[in-house]
Amino acid sequence: MFLIALILVNIAIAGIIYLYVKLTIGICKCSKHLVGKVVIVTGGGNGIGFETAKDLADRGARVIIACNNESHGNAAINEIIAATGNSDVHYRYLDLASFNSIRKFADEILQREKRLDILVNNAGIYGSHNVKTEDDLLLGMQTNHFGPFLLTCLLLPLLKSTAPSRIINVSSMAHGLATLDLNNLNMEKETKETFSKNRVYALSKLCNVLFTLELSRRLQGTGVTANALHPGVVKTKIFDDVDSILFKFIVPVLKLFSKTQWEGAQTTIYLAVSPEVKEVSGKYFRDCHMVKVSTDQASDVVLARKLWDISEKLVKLT
Ligand SMILES: *[C@@H]1O[C@H](CO)[C@@H](O)[C@H](O)[C@H]1NC(C)=O
Ligand SMILES: *[C@@H]1O[C@H](CO)[C@@H](O)[C@H](O)[C@H]1NC(C)=O
Repeated sequence: MFLIALILVNIAIAGIIYLYVKLTIGICKCSKHLVGKVVIVTGGGNGIGFETAKDLADRGARVIIACNNESHGNAAINEIIAATGNSDVHYRYLDLASFNSIRKFADEILQREKRLDILVNNAGIYGSHNVKTEDDLLLGMQTNHFGPFLLTCLLLPLLKSTAPSRIINVSSMAHGLATLDLNNLNMEKETKETFSKNRVYALSKLCNVLFTLELSRRLQGTGVTANALHPGVVKTKIFDDVDSILFKFIVPVLKLFSKTQWEGAQTTIYLAVSPEVKEVSGKYFRDCHMVKVSTDQASDVVLARKLWDISEKLVKLT
């Protein structure tokens, strides 16, 4: 009897949490059209990047999907064209782990496109092992931070000439787990024991938030806005690959409480199209709402400026 009561109570609690999670998910309700606008979505080949690209294509935009996997990119554009009827959807190769590739991509965009209304810095990897890129930076930091930094800076002239335009950075709540040491940007000080993928990920996501801050300061008065966001915990293929017994039990629960990729894309879409945030810049969002960043460091203007200067040197921008 007691056991049955206990089970019922647990089911009820799970049900309440489930309803709470589903009811507080921010959904972009704006129906704005984007005919005549040009959009770039990095990592638009799958996941929430794909959902974002599809939504923006559905609104009539010319959409350029930039990713490093040609078969994903081409499959994505075919699916989007079939689903939306918008044939102005294109794939371009972009490898954020290579400055060469980024420069080539940006040159092509600057030559071919007459405008750029929305840049979605969505691509990212879940941290990385202690591996260096061809540019001699930590793989996870370059893909998630230095690469998007260089890309954004190279595309700024086009964004400015198209203003009002928007830059959106997919960061993560994980930024709250990182502490930034400017002398340890590529984790040079870590040992085998202290190095972890999670820390690389958190640090790169903190850098995304700080860059939004400094970028928005630099863009004041240009009509270009820059905001960052946390997409939420999103169901991904990672869940299907777990092999530990413990995880086999936890995964169904995680799946139940996590967002679909469509739901995960909503805050990005909101920042890309909603008139409500037309003039908002340098802010951080979750579930289509402006929220506070997780730590003091993430809103430190001086730190943001220093990080900008160092990054500029590391990507050889000047
Ligand atoms: C692209 O992704 C597919 C499937 O996920 C994978 O098999 C393939 O090796 C990838 N190609 C490249 C160039 O990374
Ligand atoms: C996004 O992040 C990149 C790299 O971290 C940075 O260059 C860019 O300024 C950021 N933009 C926004 C809107 O945060």
